[in-house]
Amino acid sequence: MATAIIEIGVLLVVAAPTPSEGFKFGFNNSYTCHCKNDEKCDIVTGRCDNGCLKGWGGPSCQQGNVALGSEEVSQSDILIDSYGPKQAVDGYTDTAWTFNHPCIHTSFSPWAWWVIDLQRTFSLRFLKIFHQAGYAQGFSVHIDNELCFKHTNVSNPPTEIPIECGRTITGRHVNISSIRSDDFFHYIRLCEVEIYVCSRGTFGSDCNKFCHCSNGDECDVITGQCPNGCQKGWKGASCNTDIAFGIRPHGNRHHRGKGNMFAILQIQLLIYTHMATDIIEENMCARLQI
Ligand SMILES: *[C@@H]1O[C@H](CO)[C@@H](O)[C@H](O)[C@H]1NC(C)=O
Ligand SMILES: *[C@@H]1O[C@H](CO)[C@@H](O)[C@H](O)[C@H]1NC(C)=O
Ligand SMILES: *[C@@H]1O[C@H](CO)[C@@H](O)[C@H](O)[C@H]1NC(C)=O
Repeated sequence: MATAIIEIGVLLVVAAPTPSEGFKFGFNNSYTCHCKNDEKCDIVTGRCDNGCLKGWGGPSCQQGNVALGSEEVSQSDILIDSYGPKQAVDGYTDTAWTFNHPCIHTSFSPWAWWVIDLQRTFSLRFLKIFHQAGYAQGFSVHIDNELCFKHTNVSNPPTEIPIECGRTITGRHVNISSIRSDDFFHYIRLCEVEIYVCSRGTFGSDCNKFCHCSNGDECDVITGQCPNGCQKGWKGASCNTDIAFGIRPHGNRHHRGKGNMFAILQIQLLIYTHMATDIIEENMCARLQI
């Protein structure tokens, strides 16, 4: 057993990519790690020891915020230059007004709005709004003029609002607008708007489920369904069932290895039989990269 582990250690060193290439994980090393400081992630799950790179979230760090740092933002009007539309995509989610990182601020108007142009269409469903308490009572979110979400509650919403659109909307312009046309002295103070997109081959509200679509297509963010069927070797509604080995929660699968590498794996599997779990098998396969 000790011998086998040492050999695996050597293989791991040889197989480790240089940081400049970006570390990979998951099935066939087809997913990119998004760890803070470009660190290596868990080779099976994509998890990062020290958290995700800025702009990425979810347990596997595969949920990207496509709004972060955008230059293509505008708002109905600007009260003071430094309270302009970029404040909502500057990466500071603090909802208390601070001098260094203020929120956006429109002037007093019954029709206040803030719009971002994402520069291309995305399949959108989940976003999060951070706003200053007391300034977002009654607002709606439209994606390319289609209603995603509406807050009509007469009370103030929490300062951090996770939003799920009623359905997945394909679009590139997200418009957050005040709907309190009754109130002349109304303005919005958005501190940050995060708009989430799953990296290719992942889906779910946290982007930690894995789909395997043909042609590397993106799958539906909720169901994992592929537009043109599954990649060869995969089946199921979300294309996450390996035809040979069953459901692979992290998108990995075994391949039939050859020669010594496969022999080492066989020995390990025998040793671990009494405690063999799917996870152990998957870890070994992934480390051996077979
Ligand atoms: C794994 O990735 C390589 C290179 O990206 C590709 O050529 C190969 O077809 C992939 N294998 C499978 C089983 O998808
Ligand atoms: C408004 O929101 C508050 C807090 O989220 C909730 O307790 C209340 O029931 C809501 N009222 C209506 C009319 O939906
Ligand atoms: C944003 O939505 C509001 C309300 O529907 C609308 O009045 C405004 O024109 C929209 N802004 C843009 C730039 O589309």
